[in-house]
Amino acid sequence: MPNKDYRTPSIDRDTPQPDIGDKRFSGERFHSTEFMQKEWSHLWRRVWNMGPRVEELKAVGDYVIHTLGKESFIFVLDEKQTIRAYFNVCQHRGNRLVCGERNGKARFFKCAFHAWSWNIDGSIKGVPDADTFPQFKDGIPKEELGLTEIRVDSWGGWLWFNIDGKAGPLLDFLGVLPDHIAPYRMQDMRAYVNATFLWDCNWKIAVDAFNESYHFRGIHPEMMTWSNCDAKLELLGKHSRMINEYGAPSRPHRETMEISERMQAYMKYFGLDPATYNGPAKGARLEKQKLNRQQQAEGSVPHLPYNEMTDEQLSDVFHYFYFPSAAMNIFPEGINTFRYRPHETDPNKCYYDLIMMAHFPEGQAPEQCEHQYYDHKVQYVDMLDPAVEVASFILQQDADNVPEVQLGVQSEGFKGMYLGEQEIRVRHFHNLIDEYLADTPE
Ligand code: FES
Ligand SMILES: [Fe+2]
Repeated sequence: MPNKDYRTPSIDRDTPQPDIGDKRFSGERFHSTEFMQKEWSHLWRRVWNMGPRVEELKAVGDYVIHTLGKESFIFVLDEKQTIRAYFNVCQHRGNRLVCGERNGKARFFKCAFHAWSWNIDGSIKGVPDADTFPQFKDGIPKEELGLTEIRVDSWGGWLWFNIDGKAGPLLDFLGVLPDHIAPYRMQDMRAYVNATFLWDCNWKIAVDAFNESYHFRGIHPEMMTWSNCDAKLELLGKHSRMINEYGAPSRPHRETMEISERMQAYMKYFGLDPATYNGPAKGARLEKQKLNRQQQAEGSVPHLPYNEMTDEQLSDVFHYFYFPSAAMNIFPEGINTFRYRPHETDPNKCYYDLIMMAHFPEGQAPEQCEHQYYDHKVQYVDMLDPAVEVASFILQQDADNVPEVQLGVQSEGFKGMYLGEQEIRVRHFHNLIDEYLADTPE
């Protein structure tokens, strides 16, 4: 881990991007069941996947059910204060062991079908009428009947899991990301939104929708007046990142003096008063930097890591993508995480998780953040706190568009994606998916 003088590096615009090809990817990868099945065996089982937050498991017996594709897992804090995870399946006849609520507290897990039960350490607890099973006449084979466990590790306040048990160490998998993100102290942030939305698109359509800024002028025209779509991009091993200036318009509005309504919303969100600001629109980000340095000097926000930030980090959004399935918009005050999970059976659907976290002043973090699930189209402005309207406004535009892309990529008239330089992270992602799929697991 980096020392306290470490600063998250910026991205040098002048460093040329690596040549990673220019091939076109066909639409098939977004809707074929065969492709989806191959992703399961060749990709999802082999990587480190982001699971629940560590803070969700506070006391012995607290558990969270986390699903990924066709599988469901029970994450639980056992008596030894160790977080373990098991396939959520009864070893009798295969019923889902824990059904219904996503999280809860258990002294043990009892199957609803014939009442077999398991201790929270995964060992078998009880089999009703065990003497009627010829297989158990010499006693219950405890080893055999334990819940099937998967590998769990933690970093950044998140639990991560590897299904096939063969991935290298988590930190190796994450590459430079833990170093880059350390100054934000993500492990100390607490979630205040934890929501899942069923989206009518393949999980990769959702990933791609957030991994470039080329779509600002099409999908988010208002963003052009308060943020810079000309992002700095960098590939980081399997992962990648981009930095967008916030509080500074994109071309052609770059030099405007007009403080648009959306710019005003951005300024207010970060504690700036647009009514007293007289400078050019692109100076708003400098105002935020100034304000935060002042707060840092006064010591008025001791819970925020402004000391550890470069000026750029104070104002601009650092967007990191964790291959294969999570992205984060990172600010010193908080992080919005998007996690994309494949649907259990349908390649035309996915689960989009939105986890919004922040640094709270001492004693002010929410005790609990209840998980919300939406299986229908929602108005994000209605469903999210009005305080985060800046984010929900943008999310609405992205969410409304992804089902249209899903319909389009299934058309026989679609000849495959053209990806430009601004979409290099999208290309990098699909190249890597293809590499995983071409590499047969042992
Ligand atoms: S399937 Fe679980 S007890 Fe029978
Ligand atoms: Fe977007």
